Amino acid sequence: MKSLANKRILLGVTGGIAAYKSADLTRRLREAGAGVRVVMTRGATGFITPLTLQALSGHAVRLELFDANAEAAMGHIELARWADAVLVAPASADFMARLAHGRADDLLSTLCLATTAPIALAPAMNQQMWLNAATQANKSILETRGIRLFGPAEGSQACGETGPGRMLEPLDIAALAAQLFESNVLSGARVLVSAGPTREALDPVRYISNRSSGKMGYAIAEAAVEAGARVTLVSGPVSLATPERVARVDVVSAEEMRQAVLAHAGESDIFIAAAAVADYRALEPAQQKMKKGREKLDLALTRNADILESVSALARAPFTVGFAAETENLEQNAEAKRRAKKLDMVAANRVDRAGTGFDGDENEIELFWEGGRKHLPRAPKPRLARELVSVVAERFHAKNPA
Ligand SMILES: Cc1cc2nc3c(=O)[nH]c(=O)nc-3n(C[C@H](O)[C@H](O)[C@H](O)COP(=O)(O)O)c2cc1C
Repeated sequence: MKSLANKRILLGVTGGIAAYKSADLTRRLREAGAGVRVVMTRGATGFITPLTLQALSGHAVRLELFDANAEAAMGHIELARWADAVLVAPASADFMARLAHGRADDLLSTLCLATTAPIALAPAMNQQMWLNAATQANKSILETRGIRLFGPAEGSQACGETGPGRMLEPLDIAALAAQLFESNVLSGARVLVSAGPTREALDPVRYISNRSSGKMGYAIAEAAVEAGARVTLVSGPVSLATPERVARVDVVSAEEMRQAVLAHAGESDIFIAAAAVADYRALEPAQQKMKKGREKLDLALTRNADILESVSALARAPFTVGFAAETENLEQNAEAKRRAKKLDMVAANRVDRAGTGFDGDENEIELFWEGGRKHLPRAPKPRLARELVSVVAERFHAKNPA
């Protein structure tokens, strides 16, 4: 269940006997490293108290759509955006019907309409309710819309009957939820990612750098692992933990990053250059700490070699994705960069908007490749990284048919 680590799960609980198992499910998800926020239907509160789920999730439970206080804190649209996945367990027959018909008359159904995150339901109901033609029709509608159904299992039921309709056990639901984040679109591919800033020394204690936090590159490395790739991450100095199953190579300067990238690029299928590499370094870094004295100080800088150009010039160049951080003319600049550096794809983002870009937790990206483009709307970086990886996989396979 490694892929649940750091994921944001919005757990919906609806009105059914199995709601008592939601408490255990909340614990299982958190034990696997996920952050959990719970939304209960009014029906669910007849079976388990919000207080129990609040204590186990560590966050206030949301119940009402029309709740001015909650809207002021994390509004329903924000909550829908926050989620990496929506998991409804138990999902009642009535909730399935509401979802199948696009209803938005309570908080949970509204969130399900408003989110772009994957949605999974763990149905739980009496076996006749499950087998009823209406429920089966709703199930088909939901599945054709890409909503996953976990279970139900067969067996003895709380009502004394035996048949299909039992909710899966919490551990099984958590394991299936983890799979929501795993795909095999890059199965076996070797992916090289660069991340973070570089530091160009001016003297032994000072350097030129930039505001890159490394969050986007690290999220891409993690998403590539979840897509089945073997991932090497060449990282500038950042304060981020190495994602699981990622081989990390630490570097400091642009030249070190270039050498580390070139050492791995030849054996990589895909290179995603998310690092913010300094364009210039000091021409002659001082050997000793520079003393304060002069009123005016001129620094002579010299261009660093371009990592992307070095990689795309390789005889066996990987599928190469560059990032373009722009403050204006996004499309023209990104396309110009793609052509000039012979890249397979450019991921362009505006870095002049509050909360997105360099140091923010969210981003918004426009992808460009030969003959195509795709807008990835503003979202938390981990989610955006997963979307980016799936587009990269699609284009990579289009270029290298099996
Ligand atoms: C004691 C009791 C147990 C119930 N158990 C279930 C159940 O397991 N599954 C189900 O779909 N509905 C069950 N229902 C019916 C739902 O609670 C009812 O359809 C409700 O409107 C669901 O609302 P909600 O989906 O908004 O929570 C039960 C009702 C009662 C009174």
